[in-house]
Amino acid sequence: MTKSDKITVHYNEVPIYDICIKHSFSSFFRQLEKLNTKGKKICIVCDSTTKELFLDDVIDLVKEYSAQVESFSFPAGEESKTLDTVRKLYEQLTLSRFDRSDLLIALGGGVVGDLCGFTAATYLRGIQFIQMPTTLLSMVDSSIGGKTGVDFDSYKNMVGAFHQPKNVYINTACLKTLEKRVYVSGFGEVIKYGLISDPEFYTWLKENRESLLAYDEGALREMIYRSCINKQKVVESDPEEKGLRAVLNLGHTIGHAVEKLKEFSLYHGECVSIGMVAAAYISYQRGLLTAEELEDIKETLSSFGLPVHVEGIDAEETVAATKNDKKMQAGKIKFILMKGLGQCYIDNTVSDQELLDGVNYILQNK
Ligand SMILES: NC(=O)c1ccc[n+]([C@@H]2O[C@H](COP(=O)([O-])OP(=O)(O)OC[C@H]3O[C@@H](n4cnc5c(N)ncnc54)[C@H](O)[C@@H]3O)[C@@H](O)[C@H]2O)c1
Ligand SMILES: [Zn+2]
Repeated sequence: MTKSDKITVHYNEVPIYDICIKHSFSSFFRQLEKLNTKGKKICIVCDSTTKELFLDDVIDLVKEYSAQVESFSFPAGEESKTLDTVRKLYEQLTLSRFDRSDLLIALGGGVVGDLCGFTAATYLRGIQFIQMPTTLLSMVDSSIGGKTGVDFDSYKNMVGAFHQPKNVYINTACLKTLEKRVYVSGFGEVIKYGLISDPEFYTWLKENRESLLAYDEGALREMIYRSCINKQKVVESDPEEKGLRAVLNLGHTIGHAVEKLKEFSLYHGECVSIGMVAAAYISYQRGLLTAEELEDIKETLSSFGLPVHVEGIDAEETVAATKNDKKMQAGKIKFILMKGLGQCYIDNTVSDQELLDGVNYILQNK
C-alpha cells in the first residue's frame, strides 16, 4: 500500500484500525485474512440500494474467508435508522446463532454504517464489525471514529454507543452510481473539515471543484485522503467526545433541527451545509467573521451544489428543536463558532436570540 492508500487510526498511541482507500473491492480479502475470519460467520448489512448494487460482489469475495455468509437488508433511507430495524437484525443474528467471535460488515452509506455499528456494539455486549462505506459522506466521515447509533422518535442519533470498527475499507468506485444529489451532500462534511481547522484544504477544494464534481479519480482520492486525515486527527485526540471532538459538530446543531423539521426530506450533508451558514452568520454577528468571509462560505457551498437556505419551517420551532440535540452541557448548547476561514471553537454562550437570528438568516427572513 502506498502512503495515501492507508491511514492507521490510533487510540492512546495504540493502532486500532486501518482506513484503506482503494478503487475496487479486490484487495478486501487481506483485511479478512488479518482478522482470521475463516472459521467465523459473517453477516453483510446493507440497504435496498447497496444490496442491489454491490452485495453479490462482496459475497463472492467474502465466502472463501468465512464459515458462513449471510446478509440483512432494509429499505434505503434515514427512516430505517431505528430500533425497529436493529431489532430485526438482532433477531436474524440470534436465529443464525451468531456469537461473539463472528463479524458484521456494513455495506452502505452512513445509515447502514450507524445502524450496523450500533447493532455490533450491543449484540452480545459487542461483536466485531467492518465499515465498507459506499457514499461520499460515509467515506469521509461517518465510517471513521466509532460513533454508532439510531434515531429515536425522529430525534437524530438519540440512542447510540461508541464502538470502533476493525477496518474501514473504502472503494471509491462505488461513488460512480450515487445520485448526484447524494454525492454532493457529502461535500457538506468535506467542506466542514476545511472550515474547522484546515484552511489550505478549504482553498484546495475551491480550486479543484470542477475535477471533484466530475469524479476525477486523482482529485477524489486526494480529497478523501485529506478528509480522513482531518477526521483521524480529531478522533484520536478525543475518542469519546469529551471535549475537542465536538468541533466536528460545526453546522450540526441547527442542521439537525432543520433535518428533523423537514422530516428528513433533505439529506444530512445538505442540512450540515445550511447549519454551517447559520453558524457563520452567528460568528459574523459576533465580529468573528467578516462579511466577505461569510459570503465566501455561502458561495463555496453553493458552488458545490449545496443548499445555503431552507424554506417551509418555522424559526422558533427550529430553535426549540436545537434544545433536543445532544450537544448540550448543563442546559447550555455547545455551539461551534468560526474565527475566520479555517478555525473553529466550542462556545457555551450562544443565546436563543443569536440562534433565532442565525435561523432567520437561513430562512432568508433577513
Ligand atoms: N457516525 C457518525 O460519525 C456520522 C457522521 C456523519 C453522518 N452520520 C449519519 O450518516 C447518515 C447519512 O449518511 P449518507 O449520506 O451516506 O446517507 P445514506 O446512508 O442514507 O445514503 C444515501 C442514499 O444513497 C444510497 N446509496 C448508498 N451507496 C450508494 C451507491 N454507492 N450508489 C448509489 N446509491 C447509494 C442509499 O441507499 C441511500 O438511498 C445520517 O444518518 C447521519 O446521521 C453519522
Ligand atoms: Zn454530520
